[in-house]
Amino acid sequence: MATKATSSKPAGKAAAAPKKSAAGRAAAPAAKAAAPVVALSVQPILNQQRNSPAPLQKYGTVAQRLPIGLSEQVRQSSVTMLNQLLADTITLRDLYKKHHWQVVGPTFYQLHLLYDKHYEEQSELVDLIAERIQILGGVAIAMAPDVAELTSIPRPPKDREEAPVQVSRLLEAHQIMLKNCHDYAKKADDAGDDGTNDLVVSNVMRTNELQVWFVSEHVVDTPLARADS
Ligand SMILES: [Fe+2]
Repeated sequence: MATKATSSKPAGKAAAAPKKSAAGRAAAPAAKAAAPVVALSVQPILNQQRNSPAPLQKYGTVAQRLPIGLSEQVRQSSVTMLNQLLADTITLRDLYKKHHWQVVGPTFYQLHLLYDKHYEEQSELVDLIAERIQILGGVAIAMAPDVAELTSIPRPPKDREEAPVQVSRLLEAHQIMLKNCHDYAKKADDAGDDGTNDLVVSNVMRTNELQVWFVSEHVVDTPLARADS
């Protein structure tokens, strides 16, 4: 609940100390009380997106702002590849969270935890890829509808699915990612974009390969309590 002001002084400049003259004496109060002054400098300027000027940079273009020793053609090619990788990584990350929430069955606890671990690792990749795009002078894709348009990973149903089906979906998504990684790493290497090559191999490819191992072993049909005779 708002507190009612007890002072009769006007807001704004009222709280400021009276100005002193050059001799150090307090200046005489004005004969007529000044009208309240609104401090315009602290008022946020809202809704500027409604009259937005041209964007700073169009999606799909590459700026040459940072001196990183790569030609425009090389940057453009890497940005295009990395935005595809970004859209697929965001999609795979979200697929892990969907399955983290919806998993059910005897392996609930381990899959619930494993899916969330992989979600966090994919989130780190998302940031690394997006920031590489910006370093190269591109514009990173970000929002869900744009990601949905670009990704090559099939859209899963909204429904809850059995754990083995979840695992199969994840492995298919990893496979798509990894095939692209091999292709993109070679192209970046051939073009001399060592930073992109390193990111794709050392971060994206390695992380995805490791996650494939951890997920795949859950759908090997082995006996739980008694060995097959
Ligand atoms: Fe959770």
